[in-house]
Amino acid sequence: MLEQMHDLSGKVAIVTGGSRGIGRAICLALAEAGADILLNYSRSDKEADKVKKEVEKFGRKCVTVRANVGNFQQAQGLGKAVMSHFGKVDILVNNAGINRDRTLKRMTFEQWNEVIQTNLSSVFNCTKAVIDPLSERGGVIISISSIIGEMGNLGQCNYASTKAGIIGFTKTMARELAKSNIRVNAIAPGFVETDMLGTVPEDIRDQIKKEIALGRFGTPEEIAMSVVYLCSTAAGWITGVTLRINGGHYI
Ligand SMILES: NC(=O)c1ccc[n+]([C@@H]2O[C@H](COP(=O)([O-])OP(=O)(O)OC[C@H]3O[C@@H](n4cnc5c(N)ncnc54)[C@H](O)[C@@H]3O)[C@@H](O)[C@H]2O)c1
Repeated sequence: MLEQMHDLSGKVAIVTGGSRGIGRAICLALAEAGADILLNYSRSDKEADKVKKEVEKFGRKCVTVRANVGNFQQAQGLGKAVMSHFGKVDILVNNAGINRDRTLKRMTFEQWNEVIQTNLSSVFNCTKAVIDPLSERGGVIISISSIIGEMGNLGQCNYASTKAGIIGFTKTMARELAKSNIRVNAIAPGFVETDMLGTVPEDIRDQIKKEIALGRFGTPEEIAMSVVYLCSTAAGWITGVTLRINGGHYI
């Protein structure tokens, strides 16, 4: 019965920023659970093609679509693409995100705005893009927030604002969309070993690890497993929550 509950066979999922890091792991975990994937990415065709091949190894269909999800029109294109390739959509994972870290004094408006558009407006844009077909059948929306949205962090006022904003958006959507049988949740990872974390200097990485009860960074797969769970019928009564996955960083 447990296995059946986590079976996503026949489902269609959009994953934004699916070409690497946490997004890649989410694509692979959803595919392993049985879902077909529309993989969105912004830059590297090569990375996206590689993940597409990995998804196809699970016997699932994968369509890659290059689009800047921070741009409203381009994000609407994802909605059109999922309908033309798959004829439906069941799951939206808003994962795409960037950081442009500076203290407030040094941060330019462009750095503020780029992060707001990419991390937060994208969540609005992509949800709008799929809301009509999703409402017809019911479904799941998951957005990737961050521990930084709850804790704040030096040099990350833009990033922290977007990740806190995702939590407010999620709670509001959970209320608005419950009548359409759409569950809306967020995941707030702690520090996860990806290219994004690679920009943090070694001494600061060591300091952060000391603050984590389990003493290590997370893996993209450890976030992806929870995405599968939240998409599954095992989580059928879960909506409006933010699942904190951080190795005991924020207890
Ligand atoms: N790595 C961490 O420690 C950590 C912690 C908490 C939350 N997160 C969040 O998890 C998500 C994934 O992070 P990651 O560490 O895998 O990062 P990453 O940099 O490895 O991957 C980011 C992905 O987003 C895509 N992307 C960036 N801008 C885009 C745009 N405008 N349109 C479409 N796609 C775009 C990139 O192509 C890439 O596939 C982000 O939202 C990030 O904020 C990461």
